[in-house]
Amino acid sequence: MTATSTASTLSTVPSANAKSAANDTAVKKISVIGAGAIGAMFGGLIKRNNPDIDVVMIARGDHLETMQERGYVELRGDWGNVNAQVTASSEPSAIEGSDLVLFTVKTQDTATTAQRFAESIGDATVVSLQNGINQHILSQTIRKDRLLVGMTATNMAIVAPGVIECARRGVSVIGPASKDVTPEVVENARRLLDSSGLPVEASEQILGVQYNKLLFNTMGYASVLSATDFLSGGIFNRNWRNSVALPILQEGFRVLSAAGIPLQKASGGSDVLRFHRLMRILNVPGLDSLVRLVAQGPLHPPRLVFSVYQDLMRDRPTEIDYVNGEIARLASESGVPAPYNSEVVRMVHKMEKSKEKHFMSREEIAQHFRSLGAK
Ligand SMILES: NC(=O)c1ccc[n+]([C@@H]2O[C@H](COP(=O)([O-])OP(=O)(O)OC[C@H]3O[C@@H](n4cnc5c(N)ncnc54)[C@H](OP(=O)(O)O)[C@@H]3O)[C@@H](O)[C@H]2O)c1
Repeated sequence: MTATSTASTLSTVPSANAKSAANDTAVKKISVIGAGAIGAMFGGLIKRNNPDIDVVMIARGDHLETMQERGYVELRGDWGNVNAQVTASSEPSAIEGSDLVLFTVKTQDTATTAQRFAESIGDATVVSLQNGINQHILSQTIRKDRLLVGMTATNMAIVAPGVIECARRGVSVIGPASKDVTPEVVENARRLLDSSGLPVEASEQILGVQYNKLLFNTMGYASVLSATDFLSGGIFNRNWRNSVALPILQEGFRVLSAAGIPLQKASGGSDVLRFHRLMRILNVPGLDSLVRLVAQGPLHPPRLVFSVYQDLMRDRPTEIDYVNGEIARLASESGVPAPYNSEVVRMVHKMEKSKEKHFMSREEIAQHFRSLGAK
């Protein structure tokens, strides 16, 4: 099988670096269980940079049928449009013999999907890049010495069946879900994922890295309540930043501290502690006009589409219980209050149930969250 190209901008497709698995002849087959936005993009890019590796996409519905009919997945990004030849299936038997399995279903589908595919996964290394903290669920069915978890600060979406778009190429971090995993297993998986051309790091403190990402999402998911673009419309807006984002994030810091969970820094803009400092710096008097210039000018940050927004628009259950809900759950276990995160959970569940998706204005949300603080 070979990867094919439909664009003349091929040179800017993320390419594998020297330390990638491109020359690693030991890897013959990888599979993606839940080959939606994140999984199909990683799997497709790995295929493009390692044409000799067979890539199996486990999916369902129109997306599956399109990949089966075409024999490829289309990958769109700042590089243009390219195709990667893949085998698509919904059957567990299709993944048998895989060296590595990327596990990327939505968190609410974790338990049932892991059970269905457990036998076919066999001895493969499994890497979950899901949001939410799922290791306790996955370790019930997957070999503990082969289970890796992680987070990705990339931003992808299925824009049409068989077509994935990359809005942001951020860093991803993976690490061992338990002490049973050897450093060699982690490094082999890291090199393979890094051969997608999207940067992948490894961390021994992966739980702290996962919570680092989860805290970003607690703010991002709140921006969905008013369909506000997280960076340009939310963080760069003084009122929303101070009334919604900062209280949610600081509540998350307090809850994790009470639960005894240390946060682990991640690279660059993916480090939530650094992001917190940045939000406070933006409050320095006189910076507002500069911030507006960045938010509205040609260098404005990319629009991030959170999966909660996509799920609400598609009338699907969201992952809110595993993100803001995870903070609310830990808060209740630790006996500390978490009114801001709990309110995001309540409001998203209300929107999930209503047929007409009514988004409040950013100012209404900011006022509502200020009133929570006054209680
Ligand atoms: N998208 C992002 O930018 C991003 C960024 C960071 C983290 N994440 C996390 O990554 C995980 C995956 O997100 P995503 O956006 O890639 O989700 P997604 O696009 O919905 O992809 C998941 C895919 O798995 C399929 N699926 C679920 N159960 C299946 C089964 N039993 N058999 C076959 N296919 C099955 C789903 O089909 P249906 O559509 O029919 O359910 C869907 O196509 C989530 O935890 C998310 O929070 C996503």
